[in-house]
Amino acid sequence: MDGIKQAFARAKRENRAALVTYTTAGYPTIEQTADVLLGMEAGGSDVIELGTPFTDPIADGPTIQKANTIALNNGTTTTSCLNIVRDARKRGLRAPVLLMGYYNPLLAYGEEKMLQDAKAAGVNGFIMVDLPPEEAVRFRGHCTAYGLSYVPLIAPATSEKRMKLLCSIADSFIYVVSRMGVTGASGALSSGLPQLLERVHKFSGGIPAAVGFGVSTREHFVEVGAIAEGVVIGSQIINTLREAPSGQGAKAVEEYCHTITQRRNPAVSPATNGHTNGHTNGNGTSHGISTDANRNGDGSGWISNEHAEAPKEISTEDPTKQPASKSNPNNGTVHVDAVVSGGDGPGLADQLDALNTQDEKDPELIPSRFGEFGGQYVPESLMDCLGQLEKGFDDACKDPKFWEEYRSFYPYMSRPSSLHRADRLTEHVRKDAAKGKGANIYLKREDLNHTGSHKINNALGQALIARRLGKTEIIAETGAGQHGVATATVCARFGMKCTIYMGAEDVRRQALNVFRIKLLGATVVAVDAGTKTLRDAVNEAMRKWVEKLDTTHYIIGSAIGPHPFPTIVRTFQSVIGNETKTQMQELTGRLPDAVVACVGGGSNAVGMFYPFSADPSVKLLGVEAGGDGLDTDRHSATLSGGKPGVLHGVRTYILQNAEGQITDTHSVSAGLDYPGVGPELSGWKDSSRAKFIAATDAEAFIGFRLLSELEGIIPALETSHAIFGAVELAKTMGVDETLVINLSGRGDKDVQSVAEELPTIGPKIGWDLRF
Ligand SMILES: Cc1ncc(COP(=O)(O)O)c(C=O)c1O
Repeated sequence: MDGIKQAFARAKRENRAALVTYTTAGYPTIEQTADVLLGMEAGGSDVIELGTPFTDPIADGPTIQKANTIALNNGTTTTSCLNIVRDARKRGLRAPVLLMGYYNPLLAYGEEKMLQDAKAAGVNGFIMVDLPPEEAVRFRGHCTAYGLSYVPLIAPATSEKRMKLLCSIADSFIYVVSRMGVTGASGALSSGLPQLLERVHKFSGGIPAAVGFGVSTREHFVEVGAIAEGVVIGSQIINTLREAPSGQGAKAVEEYCHTITQRRNPAVSPATNGHTNGHTNGNGTSHGISTDANRNGDGSGWISNEHAEAPKEISTEDPTKQPASKSNPNNGTVHVDAVVSGGDGPGLADQLDALNTQDEKDPELIPSRFGEFGGQYVPESLMDCLGQLEKGFDDACKDPKFWEEYRSFYPYMSRPSSLHRADRLTEHVRKDAAKGKGANIYLKREDLNHTGSHKINNALGQALIARRLGKTEIIAETGAGQHGVATATVCARFGMKCTIYMGAEDVRRQALNVFRIKLLGATVVAVDAGTKTLRDAVNEAMRKWVEKLDTTHYIIGSAIGPHPFPTIVRTFQSVIGNETKTQMQELTGRLPDAVVACVGGGSNAVGMFYPFSADPSVKLLGVEAGGDGLDTDRHSATLSGGKPGVLHGVRTYILQNAEGQITDTHSVSAGLDYPGVGPELSGWKDSSRAKFIAATDAEAFIGFRLLSELEGIIPALETSHAIFGAVELAKTMGVDETLVINLSGRGDKDVQSVAEELPTIGPKIGWDLRF
């Protein structure tokens, strides 16, 4: 922690802004990264952020995304990141190093172990992009115990109240995100920056603020350095590395940093301490720089030390004194308007408490957790917007007029959807079942809704909320295309601009739905990143949402994402379970004994299950996509085969490897091809309120065929998983018992996929049919 404070103090003494530089560990190769860190310092960088790569970096633009992907393909692990710092320290790196990344890999490594190992490797602190302050308080406490720093992020949308809290967490510096959106080296700086900095300085208590996002040139550096104590450069470093001739990346970064700072630090330049870039001397002790300077791994090399070379002052002129910024004629001297003491005051827990009691009370409107699952693990830029959404949704829920308006669209949606007994499917089950076994199967026909699936229930409800909030534009992600179609439909109905993000692989698999979306007047953006499926579409939609929060609402299509989305989606989808309850009472005079639904993100399941969740006699069975089988790595059965973690803003079960990287998924059905799941379902799994099983691709085809041939209903491939699971369950139930399958969608969209897959899957299940 001290190393970072020293670096800022030194820059202040020299009457200049500190340069904070970012690179991704393992990019362009693991071996070169330590050289890049040394190159940064040699070129005048004061503080280094080492990005720990993550598969799903929702706050990063294309440049850093690609660097993350390349680093992961190079085999970069959390341990490699720590080794890079250790290596660089051995070779004389004295600048403080912060690990910057996303929460899930840290969780997977283990927080305590990470703090111990990071300290031992010579790391000085952490920046976690998606750790909300409420949790950061706890993590920061642990960091402090190890003498490590925790750097909070502040965004232009951060309210004053949150700013106070975030500033109170800061112990070395505050990272100010200069504009709404993802990382990237842009041509222009945000015009509201001076005002943002003014607000930050009001609460920062003299703690330095470093501004990042969009800085790439010397002019930017000087301009921002005139109003902030530090300037962060990231994407442009990655661009420099990408463009450098092979093996010359570290030198190119050194030169780039020098053009920014107009300073050099020859004491650590690999070129001047006997190294050539890319080579270590093995024991790391025989060159000119004493490792004693970093004996404690605290990057305190700037503090004079009898063994270490004293830092040399190279520049004769202070560059920040050259052209004064128009917005600040003080030539780089930052004046703080007011100071909120963070030093010896009350503990952070008390401060959190005080925030909620001194000002207007801000109780959680809607519970954000389902047991340990749920929450809001998102970049700071989104936090206030999510707060507004929660408030807007809560107001709407309490307003009878809102529900009247929602119900006024029932004829448009074809609600209520019908429910009836599946006579021939029931007979089929009884043929195979033991004597006295074989439940009566009923079908809840969400496939008959306008647009052909349950997705319209949620899309319409959220569009109405968006209108109440004054939003004019809608964005959404889609996998199977059904949510995209439903969203494009309601946008056409309400005259709202609509953009749908869809993985490039799903665009191919669900071509018919892509064209339907376009026919409805919406724009489809293919996401050609990662696995090119639903998960990448969610990543991209989240990135784009941040850029235009004022005008745009993101209609998330499943019961996933940060609070309050899982609750919003569940509320609108609960129409399924509520109608089922009434309809089963009318038809059979009692509640069903079991309800069954397929599970992708979990919206049709939670919508069916939630109204029955307090009726213990009703079994809840969710059927996930088992792909090629749970014993392979080609499936999407998150609850059956995953572990708790954090993805897309929520703590829930996810499919991940030992490093906390999200693993690739597979399912024959695009709508279930997702490595996360709604947090409420995760809660029900852990409390055993619901049971979750998986059906393989081949088993889904059996379900698909059964319903088509026995009931004259071609179901969606997603739904076919539930049919298979329901048939298996029904065989174990008594003939007097009843079971309802949530028929979440119709299969028109899948006819082509089924025809394509039949030559492979058909022989496995004895279905000899060709297109
Ligand atoms: C027909 C159908 N059923 C189910 C799903 C899975 O989504 P969820 O688990 O959110 O219901 C989809 C997703 O696209 C779908 O189109």
